[in-house]
Amino acid sequence: MNKFQNLCIYVILCFTYSFVISQDIPEGRNQHSSALINDKLYFFGGVTQITNSSNEVFYIDLSSTFDIFTSPFKKVLLGMPVGDNLGTCVSSPDNSTIFLIGGRMTLTSTAVYKFDPINLQWTIPIINGFNDSFINRNEIKAVIDSKGKSYIFCGTDSKTGTNNVGGGNLAYEMSLFDTASLAWSTLTLPTDVLPRTDYTATLLPTGFIIYLGGYTKLTPSSAITRASFNDILIFDTKSLSWSNMTASGITIQPRYGHSAVLIKDGNIIIFGGASGSAQVYPDLAVLNTNIWIWSVPSISTVNAPPSLTYHTANLYKIYMIIAFGRETSQVITKPWIYSNNIYIFNTETYSWVSSLNEVSQGAPTKSDGTATNKGETSNNQGDSSTDNGNSSTYKIILYVVISIGCIAFLSGLFVCYKNYYKNRTKIEKNLMSEVSDLHDKERYSNRVI
Ligand SMILES: *[C@@H]1O[C@H](CO)[C@@H](O)[C@H](O)[C@H]1NC(C)=O
Ligand SMILES: *[C@@H]1O[C@H](CO)[C@@H](O)[C@H](O)[C@H]1NC(C)=O
Ligand SMILES: *[C@@H]1O[C@H](CO)[C@@H](O)[C@H](O)[C@H]1NC(C)=O
Ligand SMILES: *[C@@H]1O[C@H](CO)[C@@H](O)[C@H](O)[C@H]1NC(C)=O
Repeated sequence: MNKFQNLCIYVILCFTYSFVISQDIPEGRNQHSSALINDKLYFFGGVTQITNSSNEVFYIDLSSTFDIFTSPFKKVLLGMPVGDNLGTCVSSPDNSTIFLIGGRMTLTSTAVYKFDPINLQWTIPIINGFNDSFINRNEIKAVIDSKGKSYIFCGTDSKTGTNNVGGGNLAYEMSLFDTASLAWSTLTLPTDVLPRTDYTATLLPTGFIIYLGGYTKLTPSSAITRASFNDILIFDTKSLSWSNMTASGITIQPRYGHSAVLIKDGNIIIFGGASGSAQVYPDLAVLNTNIWIWSVPSISTVNAPPSLTYHTANLYKIYMIIAFGRETSQVITKPWIYSNNIYIFNTETYSWVSSLNEVSQGAPTKSDGTATNKGETSNNQGDSSTDNGNSSTYKIILYVVISIGCIAFLSGLFVCYKNYYKNRTKIEKNLMSEVSDLHDKERYSNRVI
C-alpha cells in the first residue's frame, strides 16, 4: 500500500471517529430517569437547554472499560415514543423489560410505556385496572420487588397545578403496578400519612420502602414544605401498612431532587438535591437503617462531582454511578447548568473514583461502610467543597490533544507524501541509482528542499 492510500484510509477513520463521538455525547440534562439491566445503565428523557421533555435514550455499557473523563454514553437511535421528564423507571426482575412510569409526558393517552432493550422496541402495555387519574403524575420514584411488583408513592399532577416542581396538586395515594401480571391498583393513604413528591424511595430486603426527603405537607390543609430527614416514612410491602421512624445523628438539610442507593449492611447513601434551587449540605450522607442514624463520612474531593440535583444514582456492584443533573451552588444563577458527566463512588472505600476498576484515590474512612463513629462524621457543612468542572476540563484537554494529534499526523503524512513524490520525480529524472534508500534521513533531507 502506498502512502497516499494510507492517508486516505486515515482521513476516513478520523472522520468516522469524530462523527461517532459527536453523535453520542448527550446534551447536559436533569429530571431524566435511569434503569439498570444486566451491565447496561439506561437513561431516559429529561430536560435539556433545548427541550423541556426529551425523548432521547442513552446507555453506558458498564462491562466495557471507561472513565469519567471521556463520555461513555451511547445513544439508542430509536428514541422514546414520548418526551418525558420527572418520571420514573423500573427494570423487570428477569432483566427483559424496562417500564417507564409517569412523568411529564408529551403525549397523555397513557402513563406507562414498555421498553425491550434487546429488540429495541417500545410498546404500550395493556394494564388491568389502570387508573386514568394517574395520567400526568410526575415527581415520583418507583421501586420494584423481586416478584415484579412496583410501588409508586404520591407525586403531583402538574396539569392541574403550577409548572414548578412541587407546585402541582399532590396525589394522596400509593399506586401498585404488578409488572408480571400487568395489574394496577390504587391504595388511598390513611389520614395520618401525608403525601410527598421529589422524594427518594429505597426498598430494603425486609420489604420496607424507605421514603426520604422531597416536598410534603405538615397537615392536609397546609402549604407544601421540604420534609425533614429525621422523619422517615416507611411502607411495609408485606402488610401494605405505614409507619414512622425518627432518625438522629448529623442534621441533613431538607432537599428535593436528591438520590439514594442502598449499599450493604442496610446503609442508604443520599447525594445532592436542592433547597429553593440552591445547593444543600451535606452533599453526601449515610443513613444506617439498623439504628436510624445519619452520618457524613469524610471523603476526598478527588474525582468528586459538583453539587447536583435531579441527577440519577444507580448502584452497580459496589459502585454508585451518578449521571447528569443540574449543577447547584449557594448563589442561584440562571441559566441552569446541566451536566452530561458521570461520577463513580466506590461504596466500600467511600471514595470518588475515575473508573470502575480504579484502586481508590481518596482518603477512605471505614471500610465496612457503617460510618457511625462520631469521630468520622463532620458537622462542618461548609467543607463539602467539590472541584467543579474538573472532569470537563480534562475532557476539553483530551479533545484538544486528540485534535492536535490528528492535525499533526495528517500534516506529517501530507508533507511525507509531497516529499516522497518530489523525490521520486527527481530520481526518475536523474536516474540516480544511489538514492534508492528513501528512508535514509540524511540523503532525504539533503535532497529535499
Ligand atoms: C439483572 O441486572 C442486575 C443489574 O446488573 C443484576 O444485579 C441482576 O442479577 C440481573 N438479574 C438477572 C435475573 O439476570
Ligand atoms: C420550558 O417550560 C417553561 C415553563 O413552562 C417555558 O417557559 C420554556 O419556554 C420551555 N422551554 C422550552 C425550551 O420549551
Ligand atoms: C383512582 O385514583 C383515584 C385517586 O387518584 C381514586 O380516588 C380512585 O378510587 C382510584 N380508582 C380505583 C378504581 O382505584
Ligand atoms: C408518624 O408520627 C406522628 C407523630 O410523630 C404520628 O402522629 C403519626 O400517626 C405517625 N404516622 C404513622 C403512619 O405511623
